[in-house]
Amino acid sequence: MVKMKLERQHRLYTDLATWWPLFSPPSHYREEAEDLLPVLLAATDSPRTLLELGCGGGSLAYHFKDRLQLTLTDRSAAMLEVSRAVNPECEHRLGDMRSLDLGRHFELVLIHDAIMYATDAASVRATLATAHRHLRPGGAVVVIPDYVKETFDPGTSTGGEDGADGRGLRYLEWTWDPDSADDTYEVTWVFLLREASGEVRVESDRHRFGLFARAAWRSWLREVGFTPRSRIDPWRRDVFVGRRLDGAKRRKRRVEGARRGKGRI
Ligand SMILES: C[S@@+](CC[C@H](N)C(=O)[O-])C[C@H]1O[C@@H](n2cnc3c(N)ncnc32)[C@H](O)[C@@H]1O
Repeated sequence: MVKMKLERQHRLYTDLATWWPLFSPPSHYREEAEDLLPVLLAATDSPRTLLELGCGGGSLAYHFKDRLQLTLTDRSAAMLEVSRAVNPECEHRLGDMRSLDLGRHFELVLIHDAIMYATDAASVRATLATAHRHLRPGGAVVVIPDYVKETFDPGTSTGGEDGADGRGLRYLEWTWDPDSADDTYEVTWVFLLREASGEVRVESDRHRFGLFARAAWRSWLREVGFTPRSRIDPWRRDVFVGRRLDGAKRRKRRVEGARRGKGRI
């Protein structure tokens, strides 16, 4: 069982959540979704249902809802509200990706940029176990961390949009690794928020993300009961696809693992 520490709620997903559509709207995800949809559709046989863990504002999900029946989950009620406005036809459920249990099975589970909030091995394993619990045998999880240890690339970027409601947002994003010896890195944002009245204020938010080696991801996926493979996408990200083994194959793998363990003693 994962011990959930009292975690600081990120401002971007709480008091600043209504600004998400000006920070990262569906239009920013069009190319990514075009690249990812064929991967999802090929990950298991004729998929119809998809559960997303950590759906955020539903900007990526927006591009999949015509092809798949989506259940969108997040631990932030404010972000689910944003997603509901963008994806009113989809089911939305509040829940932590490490412990969610909807008591039913899907054909696909997607864990996109929320996975980086798993900053230790126990949280990653618990999140993958959530995916496993919600998949029918033969179903598949698709996990896309922004970086693995081998691809980490510090940098800065800027962006933001103007809304039809007269509001505007601009940001500076700064990605860096304060300690290359540990398994985390940081992203800090400074936001300029312009209200419809023209009033502008400055806010900031600092997030810590998990950063793990490719081999660690593959081994966690195997441990939880998936057959993993991965590809590099056009944005140099590792896209991990894990197919859920059926019960008999999983038991066989456990017995073989135990035998190998004994052999080493
Ligand atoms: C970068 S946003 C996702 C944006 C999303 N890809 C989109 O298209 O709008 C990350 C989301 O992960 C959620 N999150 C972080 N940790 C989580 C956890 N332990 N369980 C569920 N959701 C989590 C945050 O609340 C946030 O909404």
